[in-house]
Amino acid sequence: MAMNKIKELSKILDPKEILEPKRKAKGSLSTLLDKRLDELTVSKKGMSVPKVLWGAERYGLQNTKAFNALSESKKLAYLERMTELNLALSAFIETSGHNYGAKMILLSETLEEKSTYALFASDEAVHLREFQNFMNFDYNLQSHFHPMLKPLAEVIRDGSKISLVFVIQVLLEGFGMGHYNGLKETCLFDPLKATYDQILKDEARHHGTGIILAKEETPSREDEEQIFEYTRDFINAMQSAHWLSQVFSDVGEELSKTEQSQLWSDLNFEKMLQQRILKLKDMLSKVDSFNLIDRLEKNNVFKVQID
Ligand SMILES: [Fe+2]
Ligand SMILES: [Fe+2]
Repeated sequence: MAMNKIKELSKILDPKEILEPKRKAKGSLSTLLDKRLDELTVSKKGMSVPKVLWGAERYGLQNTKAFNALSESKKLAYLERMTELNLALSAFIETSGHNYGAKMILLSETLEEKSTYALFASDEAVHLREFQNFMNFDYNLQSHFHPMLKPLAEVIRDGSKISLVFVIQVLLEGFGMGHYNGLKETCLFDPLKATYDQILKDEARHHGTGIILAKEETPSREDEEQIFEYTRDFINAMQSAHWLSQVFSDVGEELSKTEQSQLWSDLNFEKMLQQRILKLKDMLSKVDSFNLIDRLEKNNVFKVQID
């Protein structure tokens, strides 16, 4: 029964729509929603926002030959682009949370579960608006893509209820918390710092609930398979994301192969990835009742690969 439901839902959940649904509603809904979200957000729509919200230190760029060689105006353009990418990625993740909540509500067997996920989805709608309040640019999947978005949309489309709890709530929201926390710590704009504080409280609840629920579940063979596959895909995607070198091309200063290797070594990129992977491993170890970590290790998923 549950399996059939998941298959039926896979047919109607489209990855593109999970990440990038049409934004504006027709008629008066837009105004009504604005009014309600204004009451729920800590940030304000229409406030004036600087174009650079994180400095070079956020990324360790001040220690790199490549960044230091840029002209002042290109440095600025680089940091602006990184600001956009950070905010857009958050907006896509919060957008996907709407359909995550919706799917979990539909897969819930009890009213209490449905209420839990209705509240989650409501939090994500507020988070999305918080981020949008800082975004004075147009964002779309083509110009602001991140490789992690692909497995994110796929797991929301195809994941079973239990594997979604593991992959979305434990793994991704846990990862997201660390990521948001880092962005908060290094943010140059106080209103955004305060907003992260608020969002982090909700994400801690989502992640914490995920850990408690995951511990109470016994994944089936198929769940185990899905959890393994999506965890692997996420870690691979995380490792394949190369914003810091890609943005050089975006500002018209494409790096040669040698310059790129120099950049990774200046940034100590390998160590950075290693630390991120370790964090994910730690998180998974809290809910690993079925030798997941062992299997991931045997498949070299935790091995740092820089191409
Ligand atoms: Fe969120
Ligand atoms: Fe969340």
